[in-house]
Amino acid sequence: MNSARVLPDTLEAFAAEAMRRYGLREDDARLSAHILVMTDTWGVHTHGTRQLRSLLKNFSIGRLDATATSEIVREGPAWALVDGHHSVPFVTAHRAMQLAIAKAKTAGIGYVGVVHTSHFGAAGYYAVMAAEQHMIGIAMCNADPQMSVPGSRGKVLGTNPIAYAIPAGKNSPIFLDIATSAAAANKIIRARLLGQSIPAGWLVDAEGRPTTDPSGFPETGALMPMAAHKGYGFALLVETLAGVVTGAALTREQPSWVPNVLGNPPGPANQGQAFIAIDAAMMTTTDAFDERMTWLGNYIHAAPRAEGAERIYLPGEIEWEKREKALAEGMILPPDVVDSLQGLAQDAGIDMLPFEMDVAG
Ligand SMILES: NC(=O)c1ccc[n+]([C@@H]2O[C@H](COP(=O)([O-])OP(=O)(O)OC[C@H]3O[C@@H](n4cnc5c(N)ncnc54)[C@H](O)[C@@H]3O)[C@@H](O)[C@H]2O)c1
Repeated sequence: MNSARVLPDTLEAFAAEAMRRYGLREDDARLSAHILVMTDTWGVHTHGTRQLRSLLKNFSIGRLDATATSEIVREGPAWALVDGHHSVPFVTAHRAMQLAIAKAKTAGIGYVGVVHTSHFGAAGYYAVMAAEQHMIGIAMCNADPQMSVPGSRGKVLGTNPIAYAIPAGKNSPIFLDIATSAAAANKIIRARLLGQSIPAGWLVDAEGRPTTDPSGFPETGALMPMAAHKGYGFALLVETLAGVVTGAALTREQPSWVPNVLGNPPGPANQGQAFIAIDAAMMTTTDAFDERMTWLGNYIHAAPRAEGAERIYLPGEIEWEKREKALAEGMILPPDVVDSLQGLAQDAGIDMLPFEMDVAG
């Protein structure tokens, strides 16, 4: 396996072409490619184009429907419930956050829950959509169980990611985008593929004992929640807002979005997702909000640094800097991403990957 250098636009064109070959509509293919490549430019390669190959297989076997479109099934002034109808999940999530933003423009806040949908990639993309409209955005989804809870053995809850984004005045939008597990499952699977050990505190083995060896996962063992009971508590909030409220499959009823996972419940993924937008400027003023967020960001940046620390970052800052560099110089895709894209090219019948191969990572 080798690294490769690629320009974001080139990767986007490749991803969109692969999706067209799986029957996705032009606009859906382009938007989905944009979401995945944005994630790659942030350096979040676990949840960017690497996942496209597995996701597209769902269309071939009827677990997702490239001709379907999501639909609002019930709504009020500040909320809506959307049925994804197993359509392209990135597009459904994008439309749901657009709707939450529209509701917040009139009501000050908007909640949109989605049912009958699948993997939406990095939660952060959708939260950032709200920040780009000068709103606070929150995005989350429930997922099939991968994580233990304090006192349990084995998998009980999903890694249920949650992201928020906040316009930050003179600083770039703040965004925190995290799994509620100590680490995303993909990071462990990636370490396993690369033959690497993982940090302590990420995984328990089949007996519920902490381990740094990822080789048994996901067949046995379970992820650990981030910060013990604290991550567990947030995963439960996500399960409620994204799963219970929407009517999506909960915990062990949830089939993985990855096809053919051993021991998985049958049928397509029925994930629940929740998108919240808050127009904070309505409660204060745009100027006051920007001024106070700028102050807060600057205050944190200027905090006395710990010995050996070079910088203090705001959440999202690392990703914005990586994106700026990727847009200017291209980005280096790690070997496992290249491997997955090569497989995708083969599946989709695309002859060549337009990448500069064998670049040192
Ligand atoms: N769709 C799904 O089912 C699913 C499930 C799990 C995770 N995910 C995605 O996986 C991705 C990775 O999740 P993760 O838990 O591994 O994230 P992570 O632990 O790498 O944390 C990333 C977040 O922490 C912030 N951060 C990192 N270092 C920082 C520092 N020094 N100062 C300030 N902020 C800092 C980053 O800006 C970013 O917002 C996310 O995009 C998440 O949405 C998706």
